[in-house]
Amino acid sequence: MPIVTHLHGGHNAEESDGYPEAWYLPAAADIPVHYAEVGSFYQEFKDKFETRYATSWSKGSAVFQYANRDRASTFWFHDHALGITRLNVYAGLAGFYLMRGGPADLAEGMLPGPAPKLGDRPGKRYYEVPVVIQDRSFNTDGSLFFPASRAFFDGFTGPYIPDSDISPIANPEFFGNTMVANGRTWPVLPVEPRRYRFRFLNGCNVRFLILKIVTDPLAPRPAPSALPFWQVGSEGGFLPAPVRLDQMLTAPAERADVIVDFTSVAVGTELYLINEGPDTAFGGGVAGKDFQPADPGTTGQVMKFVVQPLTTPDATIPPEHLRLPPFEPLGAASRIRRVSLNEKASAVLPGIGPRTVLLGTLGPKGNPVPMGWGDPITENPAVGATEIWEIHNTTGDAHPIHIHEVQFQVVERQAAGQKAAPPEPWESGFKDTAVAYPHAVTRVKAKFDQAGRYVWHCHMLDHEDNEMMRPYRVSSPES
Ligand code: C2O
Ligand code: CU
Repeated sequence: MPIVTHLHGGHNAEESDGYPEAWYLPAAADIPVHYAEVGSFYQEFKDKFETRYATSWSKGSAVFQYANRDRASTFWFHDHALGITRLNVYAGLAGFYLMRGGPADLAEGMLPGPAPKLGDRPGKRYYEVPVVIQDRSFNTDGSLFFPASRAFFDGFTGPYIPDSDISPIANPEFFGNTMVANGRTWPVLPVEPRRYRFRFLNGCNVRFLILKIVTDPLAPRPAPSALPFWQVGSEGGFLPAPVRLDQMLTAPAERADVIVDFTSVAVGTELYLINEGPDTAFGGGVAGKDFQPADPGTTGQVMKFVVQPLTTPDATIPPEHLRLPPFEPLGAASRIRRVSLNEKASAVLPGIGPRTVLLGTLGPKGNPVPMGWGDPITENPAVGATEIWEIHNTTGDAHPIHIHEVQFQVVERQAAGQKAAPPEPWESGFKDTAVAYPHAVTRVKAKFDQAGRYVWHCHMLDHEDNEMMRPYRVSSPES
């Protein structure tokens, strides 16, 4: 299988960023004839890497170098091969990459350092547990099930028309029927009555999660919250201040660094992390008439906490008193760039065939111009430029938009015909993925300070793989 690794959230040279067309075949070392079968950018990035670092990529491999100069944050890494990212990530090619240390990690001397384990003497550190939440489906033998055609999604079984958008593999959005946390279905985590730092990652292909801690997992939705989350960080590190949340919306690829305070929970108590996000595409609001929370008996549950006796005293600071490292916002933007999210009906079977979702630009009259992966680059910030990207979502669904190479600030969102609204409280830090709501403009600001060819895309993996992804280039003014 072709693969190429992307460090999601990282700020790295282009040849180490995992460009989708710089894939290679890991098995090529054993199959000489396949050596030539690499993505079109593989050779270019191989040459650049070897020149820059004076080390070589051997057959069937690539070497990436990460500067690790980013703020302390919750990154993750995953496959990014063109057109099959959804399959490779689904099969397991995804993991956490926790950036630690540096001035931005020095919150009262208690946040940095290796993760203590249960029973360790953590001093002033929180017990820390990274949790990647994903939805999966399984065959009866326990192997992963992934739909081979749209029949799974909507019963559509044909006709198969080569080179059309009626491809048998274009299942538009994968929703699994079980939830897994760190690869296990509905696991149980023994916790002590102390404060835990959870690094949550929504690692689903397309599913938006609305997380909540409750006592009764089968309670009618919306269920009452039993314990709040104190969110202290997002994709790009710590927030300016902790944010108390009774529920947490996380889109695919978003991360939430949170403290959960179990200190007042009685030993023996059972608590549940549930999901009130929908089992279908997400359109925004959670109170709308069409909004259907996930099935409480299956995908509406994620994991269980069982409170056990305290082993050592907890000397950590209560999250409401936690002071986080100083936050330095980005400077003023020198230009506004207008881009669009688009959906097109099938040209072959209008009303029946799958709709195509594409990124694009906005024409001079504000008309969206959908563009595919292979269209010429239109976003080309100069090295050092700070820009606002206005993301015009012309579709009926929310899409999590990820821009490689930068950590941006969400400036505001503006629904059609309404005044702009500030970002949510938990979006007050740096992010690399943000939800663009239907029929709304989402404005994000980023500083592009490293030349190279990168990508931006929808992080619903099935969308990304079906061309909801565009290259962009950061270049010196003269090139
Ligand atoms: Cu999480 Cu372009 O990737
Ligand atoms: Cu999308």
